[in-house]
Amino acid sequence: MLKIGVMASGGGSNFKAIIDRIGEGDLEAQCKFLITNNAACGAVEHAKMYGIPVFHISGKTHPVESEYEAALCRVLDESPVDLLILAGYMKKLPDVFVAKMPDRILNIHPSLLPKYGGKGFWGIHVHEAVVAAHETESGATVHLVGHEIDGGRILAQVKVPVMHDDTAASLQARVLEQEHELYWKTIRDYAKSLGL
Ligand code: GAR
Repeated sequence: MLKIGVMASGGGSNFKAIIDRIGEGDLEAQCKFLITNNAACGAVEHAKMYGIPVFHISGKTHPVESEYEAALCRVLDESPVDLLILAGYMKKLPDVFVAKMPDRILNIHPSLLPKYGGKGFWGIHVHEAVVAAHETESGATVHLVGHEIDGGRILAQVKVPVMHDDTAASLQARVLEQEHELYWKTIRDYAKSLGL
């Protein structure tokens, strides 16, 4: 069975959507752990409810960079997974960590990459920029994680229209709904393409 680990920093709605699909039998997978850099986030609440082990690893728990990197790598060594799923994880991963799982780390981003990606574009800031630019279309992208922020190979995208009266918040809510459908299907299809 496909083994996944999830990393999240925020509300955790994408994490929850994936776990729910596993629970409903749509995604044949086991979630082995949640790594978070924010112990007080919603994702941690979800993990606790589902009995998923949580590792809190951040600059607070590990102020020395090399120890922070080692702690992240240790999770992968001790709880090996086939795919690592970034679900609203808002911190750049150390290169040494990314190098441990080439082409096996997926991220979801709330825009049609390569538009509105890269440094400074995360969470609500993406939607603020899209609305400010009077775009008529936005969406979400699932991509592989490489060493450049939001730069890896695109696996799947979904388009979402931008309404003339959209605010960043209303657009975010509509895109998020689509993210929840896009992510688990892309995980399923990508795992299948790798023969997992
Ligand atoms: C999602 O919209 C996700 O695409 C975005 O953060 C939100 C997390 O929501 N990710 C990024 O901006 C990454 N650059 P959630 O915590 O409810 O899943």
